[in-house]
Amino acid sequence: MMSLNTEPTPWWRNAVVYQVYVRSFADGNGDGIGDIAGLRSRLDYLNDLGVDAIWINPWYKSPLADGGYDVSDYRQIEPRYGSIEEAQALISEANELGIRVIVDMVPNHTSEEHKWFQEAKDSPIGHPSRSRYHIRPGQGKDGSEPPTDWSSIFGGPAWSRLPDGEWYLHIFAPEQPDLNWEHPEVLEEFESVLRFWLDLDVDGFRIDVAHGMIKDPEFPDIGDQDHDLLSSSRMADHPFWDRDGIHEIVRAWRKVLDEYGEDRMMVAEAWVPRDRLPLYLRPDEYHQSFNFDLLAAPWDAGTFADVIANASAAAASVGSSPTWVLSNHDIMREATRYGLSDDADWRTWPVTGPVNKLNAELGVQRARAAALILLGLPGSSYIYQGEELGLPEVWDLPAEVLDDPVWERSNGEQKGRDGCRVPLPWTADGPSYGFGAGSAWLPQPDEWAKLAASVQAVDDGSMLNLFRETIKLRKQWATADETITVGLVDRSGRLTYARGSGLVCVANMGTKPVKLPEHKRVLIQSETDAVMAGRLVPNCAVWLDVS
Ligand code: NOJ
Repeated sequence: MMSLNTEPTPWWRNAVVYQVYVRSFADGNGDGIGDIAGLRSRLDYLNDLGVDAIWINPWYKSPLADGGYDVSDYRQIEPRYGSIEEAQALISEANELGIRVIVDMVPNHTSEEHKWFQEAKDSPIGHPSRSRYHIRPGQGKDGSEPPTDWSSIFGGPAWSRLPDGEWYLHIFAPEQPDLNWEHPEVLEEFESVLRFWLDLDVDGFRIDVAHGMIKDPEFPDIGDQDHDLLSSSRMADHPFWDRDGIHEIVRAWRKVLDEYGEDRMMVAEAWVPRDRLPLYLRPDEYHQSFNFDLLAAPWDAGTFADVIANASAAAASVGSSPTWVLSNHDIMREATRYGLSDDADWRTWPVTGPVNKLNAELGVQRARAAALILLGLPGSSYIYQGEELGLPEVWDLPAEVLDDPVWERSNGEQKGRDGCRVPLPWTADGPSYGFGAGSAWLPQPDEWAKLAASVQAVDDGSMLNLFRETIKLRKQWATADETITVGLVDRSGRLTYARGSGLVCVANMGTKPVKLPEHKRVLIQSETDAVMAGRLVPNCAVWLDVS
């Protein structure tokens, strides 16, 4: 029996979506790796948290060269995670609790172990199977130079050579060859894969690297332009980011989803400049797109206010609803990010230090305030597993346990993303703090015993209970309409926004206590003593009823 809410507003317009990085969520079979059995056993926890949907990172068959973003079979579940039958059981159990399920789709590249790439690699030069990928002769004498000067997002060149001398393109790791989306079979195959999962009743897709896929057919050199994923495509007419041809593909996918009714959705992971994002959100394209501006914003009221106002207006201008993200499996957890001093770059700091640039307590305090800012906004809020526990980045993982290709490919300049992917602590004791029956695939710090979900569940002042309470209040105060008014920010560092319901959220991102507007009562505050003598203390936030 489904108990999904059937209000006329499509559910995805104002959902709390919880991101599940399966490998690190919960381990049901004790092999140290999270799996579907573990996820199923924790659905009640997610229900108690009050989330509307889960987004599951890629769970398809994969050699896990890039945490599953290297898919070898899009219609099978990675055996380490479970089976299709277990995936089906999970989807129906989640639906019974009223929790929707979004799966990740990875169209820009496959795994090198995908049957298409195997066929291409094993076929002679010029064979049609090669044209499903970008496989080209090299430059220079004997073609020993790559076809272009493009570099991979993970470091090193974006081309690798096949034994027969031709080169294949991989914008990410060499194990992730880029598909050629000009080839009609590629689109046909992905439409069929979307249908496969829609038939299994998933509610939506998170589309990976949604601004990739189309490449400039001229394959020009790029020079020293910055094309880092997080800095988006700053270059107009970039040879592999944000090309206009993408939109035709998206429209074809959208038609497939629409066949299944308006409750199925797609959200784009598109790292594009602000003025380009609405293009992805036109009525016949994506339902939503992640807005990463907040995640990239420093702890600064002016920046937050600007991002909130702009993202809300941009989404409204194309009839979409905004989305908000403070962290995910690709970036440093905010409890640590917000504790770093202004002159530390979170990308390189875990390698370069020094340690004294981190004020861990301040980071957590700000992360609590940020949760209130996030959950009161219109549209959908995406929470990354462990964010609700206030987990810090495990920035000091020893080199020998690191698994992310970024570490090796950047020649140790960047530690990579393992620090935000450490398995969750569920209980205060046990070999992996309740993650599983044995030790976990990445080591958890000892201090995580006190951050365990079971410990926080019974502590009124915990981050977990802050999230639970705020999500509960959100349903009453923040989802009825999508209107928002963002207050002007002055030098005090006070961020204020008001919602149509009479909710006003105030955050103090400055250094001195700030005045609160007149209100009937305080609905929730990020710390028990956030409000003192009618003023809000620094690094705290509060929800007020001004109705
Ligand atoms: C974005 C994903 O979030 C990231 O984890 C992955 O490495 C790249 N896309 C490549 O698929």
